[in-house]
Amino acid sequence: MTQPLLEISNLHVAINGTEILHGINLTVNAGEVHAIMGTNGSGKSTLTKVIAGHPDYVVTSGDIKLRGVSILEQEPEDRARAGVFLAFQYPVEVPGVSNMYFLRTALNAHRKHRGQPELSGAEFLALVKEKARLVDIDAGLLNRSVNEGFSGGEKKRNEILQCACWNRHWRSWMKPTAAWTSMP
Ligand SMILES: Nc1ncnc2c1ncn2[C@@H]1O[C@H](COP(=O)(O)OP(=O)(O)O)[C@@H](O)[C@H]1O
Ligand SMILES: [Mg+2]
Repeated sequence: MTQPLLEISNLHVAINGTEILHGINLTVNAGEVHAIMGTNGSGKSTLTKVIAGHPDYVVTSGDIKLRGVSILEQEPEDRARAGVFLAFQYPVEVPGVSNMYFLRTALNAHRKHRGQPELSGAEFLALVKEKARLVDIDAGLLNRSVNEGFSGGEKKRNEILQCACWNRHWRSWMKPTAAWTSMP
């Protein structure tokens, strides 16, 4: 049997000494889509933030493995390089940082980690235009600051564009889709 993409076992998580997750088990294989549903305050966002490595949340027992490797001791940026992507419920506006520059800098950091050369400006432009068409986002948004003044829907599309450009392995989506997807 092939190794699961993501394997969460008996995960207990606390914040400020209060336990919020009381033993979560979840196995996700490559290509599967899982939707996690629960009442307000049941811990869905907490789970996604713990996977991404938010420092406020303490894993008191259990494990999270990505392709068989525990990521609990990894910094958030290392988890991102390993393939974790967290899409925000409310994407943050970053005035003064161009969307294009942001996408390119992050993509080149990922490529460096994978031992690939950086993309030239022209190569990146071709790639981002193709991905923008794929996710049906207005190319004009690429030249604006990250999410600044974007509509709610444009912000969500911009998150999907990041995913498409960086080729993440594991994606956690917070509302409104409340759906988690994975890719091979
Ligand atoms: N930073 C925090 N400080 C204190 N309590 C928190 C923090 N983050 C989450 N919680 C608590 O953890 C519980 C789960 O919250 P959350 O994961 O946001 O639930 P959901 O996304 O399922 O609505 C809630 O009771 C919430 O108040
Ligand atoms: Mg939530």
